[in-house]
Parts: sequence; C-alpha cells; structure tokens
Amino acid sequence: MKILAIQGAPRMKKGYTDKCLQTFLAGAKEAGAEVETAYLSKMNIKYCTGCFNCWMVTPGRCIYRDKDDMHGLLEKWRGVDVMIWATPVYIDGVSAQLKTMMDRMLPGGLPYIDTSEEGHSQHPSRRKAKEKKKLLLLSTCGFGEIDNFDPMVMHIKAAVHNMADYDYAGALLRPMAGSLDEIINKDTEKIQKVLDAFTKAGKEMVTDGKISEESFKAVSVPLMTMKELAESTNALIDASTGSQRPEAKK
Ligand SMILES: Cc1cc2nc3c(=O)[nH]c(=O)nc-3n(C[C@H](O)[C@H](O)[C@H](O)COP(=O)(O)O)c2cc1C
Repeated sequence: MKILAIQGAPRMKKGYTDKCLQTFLAGAKEAGAEVETAYLSKMNIKYCTGCFNCWMVTPGRCIYRDKDDMHGLLEKWRGVDVMIWATPVYIDGVSAQLKTMMDRMLPGGLPYIDTSEEGHSQHPSRRKAKEKKKLLLLSTCGFGEIDNFDPMVMHIKAAVHNMADYDYAGALLRPMAGSLDEIINKDTEKIQKVLDAFTKAGKEMVTDGKISEESFKAVSVPLMTMKELAESTNALIDASTGSQRPEAKK
C-alpha cells in the first residue's frame, strides 16, 4: 500500500499536526506501507486565479503548470492508495496552504456536470482511476471541544464527494493538541496512549483498509478538562509574556 500525506501545517515538523501524522505513518510503515510526506510549506504553490484555462482553453493544463510545484505534487498522486490531508484548524477551517492546494486540483476534473442518484452534482474526473482511492483527514486544534472540527469535516467531506476518484475514509481529530505537550500536561502515560492510538490507526489502515471506530475515538480522548487546559495554558502564557490578559470572561 502506498500512502501519500499532504502536510498543510506551516509549523511543519515543529508542530502537533506533524507529531500525530508521523506517529500514524510510523504505524502504517511498520505494517508494510510505503509512506511519503509532502510538506506544502516547502513548496511553491500559487493561488488558483479562477481563469478556467485548465477547463476551456488548455484542457487539463493549468497556466502555472511549469511555473510552480503543483504539477509535480499531482504526479505523486499517481499509484497512491491512500492520501492523507493533514492540517491544523485555522479559524475553523483548513490551513491556507492546504486550501491553496485544493483549489489547484481543478485541472484534474472535467467541466461537465454529472447528476447523481443522490441528487448531488459532480464534475467527472479527467483521468478515471481503476479503483477508488481513500482520502483521510488528520487534524489538530487548540480548543478542547471536538465540535471545533465540525466546519472542516463538513468541508472536506463535500470536497471529497466532488473528487470522483476518492472515497472519504474518515477523520483523525486531535483537539486540545497542546495537551500532547509535556510542559502543559504532566500525565505522560495519557499522552502516550493517544500517540499509541495514532500508531494503531496507521497499522489498521494498512491491514484492514480502514480505521476502527475505537481508534478514531481513542485519538480524540480529552487529556484534561477544559478548565485544566485553560488554566495550564493561561499560566504558561502569563509566564512567557508577563500578564497581558484583560479581565477573563466568567
Ligand atoms: C491562525 C491560527 C488560527 C487558529 N484557529 C483555531 C481555531 O479556529 N480553533 C482552534 O481550536 N484552534 C485554532 N488554532 C490553534 C491550532 O489549530 C493548534 O494550535 C494546532 O494544533 C496547531 O498545529 P501545529 O502545532 O501543527 O502548528 C489556530 C492557530 C492559528 C495559528
């Protein structure tokens, strides 16, 4: 099995998103997968200009084809069985790096509109894959409540629905990502359990072709209460900035 992870976190290897992603990939590798991570922040990927040249003028070919790294990245998608989109939550959505890449997928689709039985229109794919591939979302966020991922999950599900060659394979979601940090959370045993769940999920993806409900839940378990998260985070911020906090909301 070939797994390509598209890593859209600007902090790249220094961040929680990559920590979770690489732990997942280590499990997948151990189970025999070939894995690769493409760091979007290292690449030059220009914004889609919305010119539609890739549909109407030079079909399948973007105006930036030889001018940036997007075409090279798309070439890596060939022969991949599972693609992972990894991103932190930025203002309730995906990072700008990932969204910029998503917009540039337009040349891969045909401009025609197919209507489906479920009553949801779709653009057909330009290159029909022999088998549908899987697309998995992996994300971290700062707040503790799991519903902070809701807008992103809804967005990605809708985007994958429009990608004729891919099926949505679920989302590995790590809220209160800061609680994976031993400075904020002294309970290293609990942190390790979450990381082990990411490794297990990686193995399952390879051996079972899907991630179990148990693993989806285990990567998201709260590592502390919302109050504890707020208190430990606020104390850390006070210590590093000198207190600059307006009166707290009750
Ligand atoms: C610009 C920006 C916007 C953010 N927006 C949110 C948000 O809407 N909700 C949230 O829970 N966390 C938000 N965060 C926190 C990040 O999602 C969180 O720290 C994440 O784990 C960072 O991933 P990284 O360590 O891989 O960089 C935001 C962080 C930044 C820098």
